[in-house]
Amino acid sequence: MKDEEDKRPSSPVSRLTSTGSLDPVAQVLAQFAEESARGVASRAEFERLKGRFLGREKGLVPGLFARLRELPPPERAAFGSRANAAKREIEQQVARLAEEISRREAENRDRSDAVDVTLPGRAGQIGGLHPVTVVRRRIERIFLRMGYSVADGPEIENDRYNFEALNFPPDHPARDSQDTFFLDRKARSPLLLRTHTSPVQIREMEKRGAPLKIIIPGRVYRNESVDATHAAVFNQVEGLVVDGGISMADLKGTVEEFFGALFGRDTKARFIPTFFPFVEPGVDIAASCIFCKGNGCGKCKGSGWIELAGAGMVHPRVLAGCGIDPEAFTGFAFGLGLDRVALLLYEFPDLRLLLEGDVRFLRQFAREA
Ligand code: PHE
Repeated sequence: MKDEEDKRPSSPVSRLTSTGSLDPVAQVLAQFAEESARGVASRAEFERLKGRFLGREKGLVPGLFARLRELPPPERAAFGSRANAAKREIEQQVARLAEEISRREAENRDRSDAVDVTLPGRAGQIGGLHPVTVVRRRIERIFLRMGYSVADGPEIENDRYNFEALNFPPDHPARDSQDTFFLDRKARSPLLLRTHTSPVQIREMEKRGAPLKIIIPGRVYRNESVDATHAAVFNQVEGLVVDGGISMADLKGTVEEFFGALFGRDTKARFIPTFFPFVEPGVDIAASCIFCKGNGCGKCKGSGWIELAGAGMVHPRVLAGCGIDPEAFTGFAFGLGLDRVALLLYEFPDLRLLLEGDVRFLRQFAREA
């Protein structure tokens, strides 16, 4: 080791000039020793140090070589070799610092990438059922228990199923484009979005004949101006029972049983005569207000009743049109507004919430089944 050092052209260690101060090579080395001893905390600091000594333009080491020309020729060789030695020395140190800074960066990266297995886990996001689905399933369960089966039909209907076979006269106002979204008026039987679930009565009677005991939940569409209690897209549950000897009493008993199961046993059903072309007689059905038990409150607008369904005895012409003999069979049908039921059961203020898909609203039903 000692030998090696001795063989160097000249020692990089301080060499005094004639004036007694450190010569430029030794000065640069001393400065580097001092500054590098402080270490470099970041890559930026490292780059600054490296630039200060080795930078091509203003670096202190290249500065030494620039001085060569100013020296008297006899001194140049010795100075040059010492400057070279200093340069090598500083380059080695810089390379060492470069490794160190890279190592430290890698360590930091590892540390920030590391998984802390002691942290509590993130709870998975579990989806929930839409309130309309929750209510639909509750209603389905009640009717399945009473021996009904669940049927289904298309949301894009034609005029024949949505109106004609249901005994709507050709000029009935409900066919008007004010209520109905028409898709193709020029089709042989104009295409439209069904305005109720009643067309599935026809489809099922045509397909299965009598006897029949079904409910038909589904989405329906009407060209309504939308507000808190009216939507252009909503849900109904249709019911249809066709058998020998079915009467209005069966309808009443069924509705009372249904209301009792859904809203509570003390709920009453009210029937008021009304007109639907596909039933005779036809009724509007209301439930006694589940909030005030029929005394009258804000929810039922003081009446004590909340209208939920249309219903009636299936019109003989409708049965006959589906190939069912009205002398042998009678039936009742009802159509219930499902969104209205959800609004009552869960007491939210606006039907539009059911369509907006806002998770802050929907999340509240996640636990329902
Ligand atoms: N389809 C009717 C409506 O949407 C409701 C209804 C169904 C009435 C079955 C009577 C019988 O208004």
